[in-house]
Amino acid sequence: MPTPSLTPEHSPSAQTNPPAGPDNTQPLLIRALSGQHAIERPPVWLMRQAGRYMHEYQAVRAKADFMTLCKTPELAVEVSMQPIKAFDMDASIVFSDILPPAEAMGLKLIFNDAGPCFPEPLKPDGLSQLRIPDPKADLGFMLETLKLLRAELPREKALLGFAGAPWTLATYMIEGQTSRHLHQIKSWLYNAPRTLTQLLAMLSETVARYLIAQIEAGAQALQLFDTWAGQLHPETYQQFVLPYQQQVIAAVKAAHPGVPVILYARGSRGLLPLLARSGATVLSLDEHTDLGATHQWLVENQMSHVALQGNLDPVMLWQASAQTVAQAARQIAQTGMALNAGKGYGFNLGHGILPKTPRENVQRVIEAIKSM
Ligand code: CP3
Repeated sequence: MPTPSLTPEHSPSAQTNPPAGPDNTQPLLIRALSGQHAIERPPVWLMRQAGRYMHEYQAVRAKADFMTLCKTPELAVEVSMQPIKAFDMDASIVFSDILPPAEAMGLKLIFNDAGPCFPEPLKPDGLSQLRIPDPKADLGFMLETLKLLRAELPREKALLGFAGAPWTLATYMIEGQTSRHLHQIKSWLYNAPRTLTQLLAMLSETVARYLIAQIEAGAQALQLFDTWAGQLHPETYQQFVLPYQQQVIAAVKAAHPGVPVILYARGSRGLLPLLARSGATVLSLDEHTDLGATHQWLVENQMSHVALQGNLDPVMLWQASAQTVAQAARQIAQTGMALNAGKGYGFNLGHGILPKTPRENVQRVIEAIKSM
């Protein structure tokens, strides 16, 4: 427990100076991602930590479909808490999906066997039917889930909010669902680029408002998922991905400067100089990216203040023995902690947990990191 004399309110210099020592009143993950002070051990949470690999989740899903789970705060809280109760991670990420904001913009969203999907994907002449949602009125269920979660979570656990980044949301809205070649959105990109940038601008405003509302509902850090950002050449990335990441992150930081924003862009190994310009507090690396080389590049470019998160291979977590993954996790976390003398690193996967991952492997990885 933190000693009251260390809290900023009780420190005589709090009014004029930032606290001299680590602010132990903040959850470990927030202290780590803020990168201000060395932390005692790496914090750990896992992308998709609530999901089908857990029998507790399957039991709730047997009674309610996925969208109902997302939209019923009591159920979403229950599911968000399942991995915390089972494995004692350092953070809870609110259970939801990246697509409800697109539904709130006016696009019909359903859930089928392959996952969430838009049965009538967006056409270039369909933009006029979209609107910028009001987070409280249109996405209040997610905000309510955050409030309830914050009240239920122990103080030392961080609460994470999230959203899809504009490019990734646009891919789903235009393709309808996960797509191998992204050929529909690329058709817009080559044949109707102005319409695409109009959509991306609407999405930036939607996502920024949504994330700011999440902070106001209790989120202590945010993750922006740009799952399909790695599908573009750096030149098209600079046109259709980076400016919208920047707009969202700048708006969030202007409203709430102290809240860490984590950017996850899959397939971004060759995009580091662009990712670094996003303004994100933290870059969450996929499993194909070298943690050490990434940090080295940041140092050489006077950006060592950018924190890193990652990056165990989720397929290894699924396929390797518990002993092997625990060892690999520890090795990654040791590398992460050595980069900047323990300032600015959090353990995670390179992408979300896969549905058939053995529970024991997750358990052992969390234990391995927490015992460091
Ligand atoms: O990390 C967490 O535990 C929070 C919950 C969360 C989910 N989806 C739950 C989910 C988060 C942060 C997401 C983000 C998300 N959703 C992304 C970005 C990150 C990524 O994984 O790339 C994307 C692209 C989506 C869209 C989505 N949701 C797809 C394509 C699918 C179907 C494929 C799949 O893996 O299931 C989903 C479904 C989904 N989202 C499930 C869960 C637990 C499975 C739903 C079920 O069948 O019960």
